[in-house]
Amino acid sequence: MNKSKITIAVDGYAACGKSTLAKALAKVLNYVYVDSGAMYRAVTLYFLDNNIDIQDAQMIDSAIGEIDIHFEIIDGKNHTFLNGKNVEKEIRTLRVSDFVSPVATISAVRRALVKLQQEMGSKGGIAMDGRDIGTVVFKDAELKLFLTASIEERSRRRMLEWESKGMMEGINKEEVAENLKKRDHIDSTRKDSPLCKAEDAIVIDNSNLTPEEQLSYSLDLAKKIIEKKLTGVVKEL
Ligand code: DC
Repeated sequence: MNKSKITIAVDGYAACGKSTLAKALAKVLNYVYVDSGAMYRAVTLYFLDNNIDIQDAQMIDSAIGEIDIHFEIIDGKNHTFLNGKNVEKEIRTLRVSDFVSPVATISAVRRALVKLQQEMGSKGGIAMDGRDIGTVVFKDAELKLFLTASIEERSRRRMLEWESKGMMEGINKEEVAENLKKRDHIDSTRKDSPLCKAEDAIVIDNSNLTPEEQLSYSLDLAKKIIEKKLTGVVKEL
C-alpha cells in the first residue's frame, strides 16, 4: 500500500457525472480508475445474450463462473472487455440499460463483482464510481463523494452523450428520462446494498456545476486528505 495514495469512492444516481468525475480525479492524481457500473452492464449483456433466467439461481451461479471482465485503456479511453471481447459500446445501449438494474439486485452477482472490485483497489490509489462503493466495496475509503443532479439535467446530459455516439436513433427524450428514473428506483430500493449516501460521504449537487468546477472542488478535498495522510496535519475540508 502506497502511503500517500488514497481510495476515492464516487456514488450517486444514474447519469450524474460520476464516471466523468472519477475518471478526471484518477487522471490528475495518476490513480487507477474503475467504472463499477460497466461491470454490472457486462454481466447483464452476458445474461441477455445467453438467455439466462434471472429467477434461476443455479443458472445464474454457473453463468457467473463463465464470465471474465477486464478493462483496457485504448487511445486514452477505458474499454470494458467481456470474455476477451470489447463490449464498451454494446453495454451502453438501452437494451442493456433497461435490464441492468434487475440484474444488479441479484446477491450472487453483487458478491462476485464486489470481490473483484476490492481486489482491484487493494493497493489504494484508485477512484471507483458506482452505487455502493462508499457503503460496501470500500467502506474505509478516505474520500467518499455522493453526486446528485436534477432529473432534467441528467436526462439532458445522457441524451447529449447518446447523440454524440449516434445511439439516439429510435429513442425519445421521455424514454431516456424513464430509464433513469426506473433505475434509480430499483437501485435505491433493492434489499442487497441499495444506493444510499454513506454517512461520511460529501454530497455534491452538480446540476449547476461544470465538470471543471466539480473536479476542482473534489480535487481540493482529495489533496487535503492526502496531505493529512502524509503529514498528520489536518486542514479543514
Ligand atoms: O453507473 P451505471 O449507470 O453505468 O450503472 C449501471 C447499473 O449498475 C446501475 O443502474 C445499478 C448497477 N450498479 C450497482 O448496482 N452497483 C454499482 N456499484 C454500480 C452499478
